[in-house]
Amino acid sequence: MKLNLDLAVPSKQEWIDAVMADFDSFLQDHCDCERKASAMAMSFVAKYPDRTEIIPELIDTGIEELEHFKMVYDLMEARGVPLRHSIGEDPYLKALLKLCHSGREERFLDRLLIASVVETRGAERFKMVAEAQTEEELQKFYKMLWVSEAKHGHIFVKMALNYFPKEQVYDRLRWWVKHEAEILEGLEIRAALH
Ligand SMILES: [Fe+2]
Ligand SMILES: [Fe+2]
Repeated sequence: MKLNLDLAVPSKQEWIDAVMADFDSFLQDHCDCERKASAMAMSFVAKYPDRTEIIPELIDTGIEELEHFKMVYDLMEARGVPLRHSIGEDPYLKALLKLCHSGREERFLDRLLIASVVETRGAERFKMVAEAQTEEELQKFYKMLWVSEAKHGHIFVKMALNYFPKEQVYDRLRWWVKHEAEILEGLEIRAALH
């Protein structure tokens, strides 16, 4: 069952053009994003240790993202691309987090829904990356990632449904999908995931 919502706007052709024009820089950013996604899943475990219903799935997600990190790192190593020394902030994620509610419960819901939207955008973009590749190995790799991130897109909504009424979850998710589109439209286009 599909639990997440469709994105409000598709990514632009200019974005995939920028990625393909500097794929090594994209890989460096992509690698960071996978590591941050793993850390984010585990930060839910650290912040909400009493939410035992979702902890096993959060740990599984954290491991899966770290596996993605390792796979991207291996790919970079094979291509002679180093990890970045300094990791710049992600303006997309920063803008999303700035819109979070501040109360403990509402913030918990917002963080889960942001995770869902970010994963869904990741899936959409990895699909574009897969389709733009000419090497079969890279096509397969990004296809595998897009399927995995799409799954994460609905895992976080499913987690939210454990704790909040369906109507509240989907109302707020619609709100996030709308705002995510506005944030994305305002971003500078670069060879990065966001
Ligand atoms: Fe991932
Ligand atoms: Fe993911």
